[in-house]
Amino acid sequence: MSNSLFRKKSISDLIAATQGEKALKKELGSFDLTMLGIGAIIGTGIFVLTGTGAVTAGPGLVLSFVIAGLACLFAALSYAEFASTVPVSGSVYTFTYASMGEFLAFIIGWDLILEYMLAASAVSAGWSGYFVSFLNGVGIHIPVELTAAPGGLKGQVTYFNLPAFIILMIITFLLYFGIKESKRVNNIMVILKIAVILLFILVAVKYVKPENWTPFVPFGTSGVLSAAALVFFAFIGFDAVASAAEETKNPSRNLPRGIITSLLICTVLYVVVSAIMTGIVPFMNFDGVSHPVSLVLQVAGQNWVAGIVDIGAILGMTTVMLVMLYGQTRVMFAMSRDGLVPKVLSKVHPKHKTPYINTLFFGTLSALMGGFIPLDELASLVNIGTLSAFILISVAVIVMRKTQPDLPRAFKCPAVPLIPILAILSCGLLIYKLGAITFVRFFIWLAIGLVVYFLYSRKHSELNEK
Ligand code: ALA
Repeated sequence: MSNSLFRKKSISDLIAATQGEKALKKELGSFDLTMLGIGAIIGTGIFVLTGTGAVTAGPGLVLSFVIAGLACLFAALSYAEFASTVPVSGSVYTFTYASMGEFLAFIIGWDLILEYMLAASAVSAGWSGYFVSFLNGVGIHIPVELTAAPGGLKGQVTYFNLPAFIILMIITFLLYFGIKESKRVNNIMVILKIAVILLFILVAVKYVKPENWTPFVPFGTSGVLSAAALVFFAFIGFDAVASAAEETKNPSRNLPRGIITSLLICTVLYVVVSAIMTGIVPFMNFDGVSHPVSLVLQVAGQNWVAGIVDIGAILGMTTVMLVMLYGQTRVMFAMSRDGLVPKVLSKVHPKHKTPYINTLFFGTLSALMGGFIPLDELASLVNIGTLSAFILISVAVIVMRKTQPDLPRAFKCPAVPLIPILAILSCGLLIYKLGAITFVRFFIWLAIGLVVYFLYSRKHSELNEK
């Protein structure tokens, strides 16, 4: 039994499995991947969570972004090494299968459901807030009961987040019809999203009052770190690029470029935006504000720009959901092809060449979660799931260097084991700052995963049949 828990796929088997009738189309280049990355990264984190972040850390929120960004950069270097070595669908799940064996691979795939599927749900809830407010602005009013999950709006009775559900169903259908259509929609929206953030920076910067930056860290290191654990959500998504490996042209060159470029661009934007926000509005005034970026512009007397930024936020969050759901379906696709979850989830549509049943199933599930579970509960689970995945991938890079030292690696993480160890320590610190309730929920989720693994996956694994 202990041997079968650690049975591994060989790298050549992994690559062979991507050929033939289960092949996906290869059409993404490094520009597309950077767009996919930015599409996944900038969203609810910057547009919604910066408010709570500012209240938690004060103007030192800038430091929280740098800390969370550094943790991601360390993990990204490990991701890039694996992604360029094992260019097959399924992201960190597949890399773990090759390096540390089936059991841990299953656990990480299970973990990624928390990241991708619940992130799509969480962002749909953030999206819904901006969308409802936008509709109110043009005189269309949805009954408040249908604008948030039960318990999602303080002091209001709410049943279901209908806009969140509908937007995720629309995205599910885009993915059903294929990556080409989805990619085009994504690229246009990413350009608009970056444009509104640059517009915010250019318009708002002249209203900054440096005295708002003192005291810089009113709640000390602890406040800065708690905010970092929260705004970590703003960086989630660059790893979705790695899960597109199988559909990438020349992955050994394009994947590392796509991951690192998108991460760097976003970090710079976050630091500048949060510095401007806390420089215009005293940080305590962000308490309970669901549109912190617009609020800043309103305080500056720039209402028309605030309206444009609202629209940009709505579009920006749409691309995040698209990439998250895409990542989710591709991880499940890979797990299904390996026999760890039912085979029907890797059935490819004869015409659209997409895993269509998988897409419909998880898209609908994610939409229902967004409809019924409040944003903050979803977001904390997403963060712990992602941070754990980052720790595992960093361990895996060290293990692979030892067990398969001669494997050709198109991109090598610098300073191994130092960089992976820094990733493990920084992600561990952020997990610690997430708190006990999130821990408990996470362990319950893992326990359910163990049951699934031992009752189903171990028997049905392709490696077992061999
Ligand atoms: N990073 C993504 C966002 O901020 C998940 O919405």
